[in-house]
Amino acid sequence: MMAPLRLAVLISGNGSNLQAIIDAIEAGELNAEIKAVISNDRSAYGLVRATRHGLHTWVVDHHDFDDREHFDAALQHYLENVNPDFIVLAGFMRILGHRFIQAFADRILNIHPSLLPASKGLNTHQRVLDNNESEHGISVHLVTAELDDGPVIAQSSFAVEAGDTVEDLQRRGHRLEHKIYPRVLRWLAAKELYIEQGRIFFEREPLDQPIRFQP
Ligand code: GRF
Repeated sequence: MMAPLRLAVLISGNGSNLQAIIDAIEAGELNAEIKAVISNDRSAYGLVRATRHGLHTWVVDHHDFDDREHFDAALQHYLENVNPDFIVLAGFMRILGHRFIQAFADRILNIHPSLLPASKGLNTHQRVLDNNESEHGISVHLVTAELDDGPVIAQSSFAVEAGDTVEDLQRRGHRLEHKIYPRVLRWLAAKELYIEQGRIFFEREPLDQPIRFQP
């Protein structure tokens, strides 16, 4: 049995992806331990979820810091002590600076509600509707210095139907997110997936395109 993957999960809000990861661990589907749940917003509902499951939580409110560098430094210091194998961004709404990302190179993951490289940034569902796109989806990617730009590890897609609203796309996307994030972590825990110097390897081969995951 391999050692459980040590995770730190960073949130800012509802934390439904955090919940999906907790549920996968508790169901015995994911060999991992959440060592800390960190939020930059003390009112994030995800903190309630974490506490309910007996997880260690920490609030690092960006308003308490003069600038981004000091915020990042506090977060980095905390995470160095937690020493996670992976930092899992799950709806974490702060941009992390280069120094922070360098400090944890190859160890920061994010989930983004679009088929990257399409629709980086915010309001992805609205933009997909505005552009009349017929396909939409979600991506899990490695975090690098540029926003939503790191190598994509896995993606799931779904069709955009006539009359769909932002809420419809959000609901469908979330359903996929809750499957794909635990799955990617499971591959990492089993070392079927690993990351070296910004390169992703899956089943011993360099990944030249994202794993297409349709649950
Ligand atoms: C997700 O849609 C994710 O793609 C984006 O933020 C949202 C977080 O949702 N990065 P939740 O807090 O996990 O419910």
